Amino acid sequence: MEKLRKIDKVVNLAKTRGFIFPSSEIYGGLNSIYDYGPLGVELKNNIKKAWWDYMVAQENVVGLDSAILMHPKIWEASGHVEGFTDPLVDCKKCKGRFRADHLLEQNGIKPDFNPKDAKALKDIKCPECGGQLTEVRQFNLMFKTFMGPVEAKASQIYIRPETAQGIYTNFLNVMDSQRLKIPFGIAQIGKAFRNEITPGNFIFRMREFEQMEMQYFVQKKDTTKVFNDWKKLRMDWYLDLGVNKNNLKFRDHGKDELAHYAKKAVDIEYNFDFSKNETFKELEGIHDRGDWDLSQHQKHSNAKLTVRDENNKEYIPHIVETSGGVDRATLAFLMDVYEEIEGGRTTTTKSTKDVEVVLKLDKRLAPIKIAILPLSKKENLSKLAKQVFKSLASHYRTMYDETQAIGRRYRRQDEIGTPYCVTVDFESLEDKKVTVRDRDTMKQDRVAIAELEQYFKDKF
Ligand code: GAP
Repeated sequence: MEKLRKIDKVVNLAKTRGFIFPSSEIYGGLNSIYDYGPLGVELKNNIKKAWWDYMVAQENVVGLDSAILMHPKIWEASGHVEGFTDPLVDCKKCKGRFRADHLLEQNGIKPDFNPKDAKALKDIKCPECGGQLTEVRQFNLMFKTFMGPVEAKASQIYIRPETAQGIYTNFLNVMDSQRLKIPFGIAQIGKAFRNEITPGNFIFRMREFEQMEMQYFVQKKDTTKVFNDWKKLRMDWYLDLGVNKNNLKFRDHGKDELAHYAKKAVDIEYNFDFSKNETFKELEGIHDRGDWDLSQHQKHSNAKLTVRDENNKEYIPHIVETSGGVDRATLAFLMDVYEEIEGGRTTTTKSTKDVEVVLKLDKRLAPIKIAILPLSKKENLSKLAKQVFKSLASHYRTMYDETQAIGRRYRRQDEIGTPYCVTVDFESLEDKKVTVRDRDTMKQDRVAIAELEQYFKDKF
């Protein structure tokens, strides 16, 4: 039997422990749409907070939360109506639809599509039924809907496929209201929607997902330096949050794979190891968008989007963008810390199994920071344990668990990445102390209840 890949184990853990559920599951699910459960939403919020705090702490970066629905002309100006497409092929036999570049990748030919590669597709058959494939055609990824009660062409709008455009259209509002001068950046986190031809690989490629984007407005002459600075800053963010550096790398985009808006682009890739041919995949992109976006919006909206340089000369600012996916980051963080320990490491109880799972999530990201585990359900112990819970729960996301043997409860907390477990035992009733166990070292400290708050202040 083929050994399960790490991604399969993470998908299973995510479902059973309440991180990520298939959406609409009781109706059979909705292809590649997912819901975040109680632990998933905590983890995702922690990732977003870590990104936000890091980004708006950089010089001259401010935040924004723009609407998902925008004027339809925005997407004409941005080039998305014309050029936000993926190469599509159909199977003539089973009518399956596939992305041409993905088929090439799965056949070990080339990771990204270039029209010249269409020739290589001639030898590739449908991966589902072996049937013949059609010629490549371009498929637009934007979802459309109607605004107002009339379903007519005039009321058709798009559901944003990237958050960036809301930043460009607010560029002057932000600059003027905040009295900013170039260079400055605008950061935003929000949902984006793409009608992907072949979503898949769990939350890696979905039709509804979330982005963390930052647009930095600069003079053209400063673009290269700013691009390189952000490239480093963004890689440092993942490393600082504990991602193994061997699982991360940069990949420059070739000229023929650049998005329609990009002059230059580099991806930060993570080793997702989905399959033999799908190892390092895009986690985040850093793009030099030149003056494409603001020039286009100036042209299409008739608004003046210029600023003045030190010589009072008018110019349209250039843009360096960092664009990461919240969901891809969530998956990378989960996969990177998923560890199986053969033979188990809990030796004190019978609950030891062949394999123990530990999620060594960075403390800042862990969904639950502290678990309170009374040794027994006896009333006097529960009462004290609940007091301890109350005193900590207003400062840290804390879980109370009194069911099953203590060994099993430790294992449950290890599986969801809880950095600290606090056990309240019968001695605690006498000495007013509890035992704090560290997830990673399994070292135990006996700490006075009165000093617990300070103890954890030092730890977090
Ligand atoms: N504003 C530029 C932009 O949107 P992108 O490379 O198309 O660039 C940026 O997307 C990031 O958004 C990707 O690196 C990825 O993390 C995330 N992303 C894109 N499409 C996605 C999808 N279908 N599902 C999940 N995340 C996605």
